[in-house]
Amino acid sequence: MRILIKQVLASSEPRESIQVKGWVRTRRDAKGFSFLEVNDGSCLANLQVIVNTGVPGSERIDQLATGASVVVEGRLAPSPAGGQKWEVQATRVELVGAVDATYPLQKKGHSMEFLREIGHLRPRSNLFGAVFRTRSRLAFAVHQFFQERDFVYVHTPIITASDCEGAGEMFRVTTLKGDIEQKPEADFFGRRAYLTVSGQLEAEVFACALSNVYTFGPTFRAENSNTARHAAEFWMVEPEMAFCDLQGDMDTAEAFIKYLAQYALDHCAEDLAFFAKFVDKELMGRVRFIASRPFQRVSYTEAVEILTKSGHPFEYPVQYGANLQSEHERYLAEHHFKSPVTVYNYPREIKPFYMRLNPDDKTVTAMDLLVPGIGEVIGGSQREERLDVLQENMRHQKLRAEDYWWYSDLRRYGSVPHAGFGLGFERLLMLLTGVPNIRDVIPFARTPGTAEF
Ligand code: 4AD
Ligand code: MG
Repeated sequence: MRILIKQVLASSEPRESIQVKGWVRTRRDAKGFSFLEVNDGSCLANLQVIVNTGVPGSERIDQLATGASVVVEGRLAPSPAGGQKWEVQATRVELVGAVDATYPLQKKGHSMEFLREIGHLRPRSNLFGAVFRTRSRLAFAVHQFFQERDFVYVHTPIITASDCEGAGEMFRVTTLKGDIEQKPEADFFGRRAYLTVSGQLEAEVFACALSNVYTFGPTFRAENSNTARHAAEFWMVEPEMAFCDLQGDMDTAEAFIKYLAQYALDHCAEDLAFFAKFVDKELMGRVRFIASRPFQRVSYTEAVEILTKSGHPFEYPVQYGANLQSEHERYLAEHHFKSPVTVYNYPREIKPFYMRLNPDDKTVTAMDLLVPGIGEVIGGSQREERLDVLQENMRHQKLRAEDYWWYSDLRRYGSVPHAGFGLGFERLLMLLTGVPNIRDVIPFARTPGTAEF
């Protein structure tokens, strides 16, 4: 019976007969036999296979080169060599798919830039196998965290007519030919439509009915910024909670990040150890810190004071009323607090229309959770639940109230204080794997100028 290599390596006792299928990582020939290292992606470790000359299939051993796919049958026996518990003594090997000399993945390490150019083959490397197994586990953990707390998972639309963040960084969706600005009412949806930047507005609809909900799906931003933290298509987790204020929102955000860090420690240990060895020496300390130690909180006003007094030579000036740049965010988390830190109560001028206005009439109940190495991983807020203030915010930001009639209705009929946030899933993965570029934690990165695979 065929089993995955991960299951083989977890065996507690020898087995007379097993079958595994995978890809050859390396082959070493000796007198009378060959060693094959076979990997099927189910775990980081390879399975060592001994192929004696003469077993069926061994006559094609030369073609069992790096990258070739194979079926191996044999006995699972304790390995006499150090470094692994089990080896397979093959009774039969079968070449399934051969490779030629152009196969680009060799045993030696390749640069991340080179691996991006072979996005269709990079999942076969140790690093990317580890990244995408971890991504899968943590996606499951996202659901587990919310499901354990009775949040309802809502599938919000990918095509939308509203710009949630008001930043105008939307990809247009159209079937019009020629001048698409001419007659939007002739378009497929009878209006201008876009790929969503956030499921928040729709999540609010459901929170104002089902209490605690979350979305988890792809979001799109046409930001022309070529940084290591921005992608044009990324996955966001957006919980939304009815009868919740800013405090409750920050509490949930912190608990969520801690849960995911602990989950990675508990369920991705082999892959994390690999990242700690080859990608980021400080990884384990950081992930343990996140899982176990309290985070810091500071108001935007205090944060600006800290930055101003720091005397640190920032590229962008620090100024009350301006957005924090990622160098400022990182300074706060890495140097000042040496810890994840949530900054809250930002000036209303730099935040979207839906955030709740504070009694000072100057700041809104926004919060950003900042982490070392990355800056913002979570952005959220308590939402403006008072209809008149919401309408005033829309006027202030030159939004047309009729475009948001259904959103306003939530404030007209049984309005409740509510709050939520968005976690950038790729940024979380960067935090918990140490992989420094967002292009390398998403299977197929979409960034300006790149959509090859
Ligand atoms: O701070 P943002 O823009 O917040 C929202 O979209 C809210 N509607 C969320 C909510 O309250 N429900 O985005 C949330 C997070 C950021 O903190 C960041 O981690 C990630 O999404 N993010 C990006 N990740 C990768 N590439 C980009 N271009 C990103 N833009 C935002
Ligand atoms: Mg933000």
